[in-house]
Amino acid sequence: MNKVHAVITGIAGYLPDYILTNEELSHMVDTSDEWIMTRIGIKERHILKEPDSGSSDLAVKAIEKLLEKTNTHRDEIDFILCATVTPDMQFPATANIIADKVGILNGFGYDINAGCSGFLYALASASKWVESGSCKKIIVVGTEKMSSIVDYTDRATCPIFGDGAGAVLLEPTTEKLGVMDCILHSDGSGRKYLHQKAGGSVKPASRETVDAKEHFIYQEGQAVYKHAVFRMCEVNKEICDNNNLTDNDVNWYVPHQANKRIINSLIEKLQIDPAKVMINIERFGNTTAATLPLCLWEWESKMKKGDNVILSSFGAGFTWGAIYLKWGYDSK
Ligand code: UT7
Repeated sequence: MNKVHAVITGIAGYLPDYILTNEELSHMVDTSDEWIMTRIGIKERHILKEPDSGSSDLAVKAIEKLLEKTNTHRDEIDFILCATVTPDMQFPATANIIADKVGILNGFGYDINAGCSGFLYALASASKWVESGSCKKIIVVGTEKMSSIVDYTDRATCPIFGDGAGAVLLEPTTEKLGVMDCILHSDGSGRKYLHQKAGGSVKPASRETVDAKEHFIYQEGQAVYKHAVFRMCEVNKEICDNNNLTDNDVNWYVPHQANKRIINSLIEKLQIDPAKVMINIERFGNTTAATLPLCLWEWESKMKKGDNVILSSFGAGFTWGAIYLKWGYDSK
């Protein structure tokens, strides 16, 4: 019998309407379009402004589009896996809130927190549920309301992040398509460079933690940057070597969108063809667990059935990894 692979059979994304431009940011903090474009490569990012709305609401919008375009009934979904660092609340899992809002009643769900590698970790994990025969239709969603943990008085972090969601439908196939290989790594000692200081069990929320702005993103940018370049290059090489892929064999590279300079370093160091690299950071910023599905969604019409696609990411944890997949369909 042919091996069962987990293949992406549909993709959808959602970005909230409000666009925060570098021009607007330059009136909020001491920065400029020129600095942000040169150092990060972001022009604008989408921000969820609606009151009482969170990451689940972004995910619901993406998932409703996904179900419609793939002609899938919500009752068919057995599992919803949500990658996020901005859950609606500490508990229950945002996946359960999403399932309730979409009306997915026959499945189970939980969240994965792997920083910017969240979607990659989630896709790798969900593919195992498909390959084992336990699940037939899984939704993997990366969704973030990063604006809820960004300090808009801190010029070192506020230009970087944006809000958004991207969701894929994952199904079994016996064709040689879908997820071929996954490599995941983590190193918890990297947490000192990128974390949220308060709000967890070590330092629960208090008046003091709020006054000290400890519920916002804390990042030592240069240290994270160096690790990101090194690990992204290393893991891209590792997955290509493992699968005997040269640059000629790869149709698309989908790197996490944290900083355009990190992606440019990847292109230079690995000597890959820039035309094959998906980049949309300029318009969306770093949407953390949503960057990879938002890239795939934007490039969906360009990808062909059987295309070799390499996803890679690096983020808080530290976490990093890569997935090699064969794209599952030609767009209609
Ligand atoms: O997705 C999760 C993983 N995260 C990442 O991969 C992020 C990795 N890190 C980065 O992308 C970059 O380190 C940053 C974009 C965060 C910062 O860029 P940088 O080139 O490393 O800048 P820096 O922190 O070394 O700061 C250089 C200078 C400093 O001024 P002085 O000390 O040299 O006078 C900063 O105060 O730039 C200043 N600066 C700014 N100036 C204008 C920092 N932010 C800004 C700003 N506008 N927004």
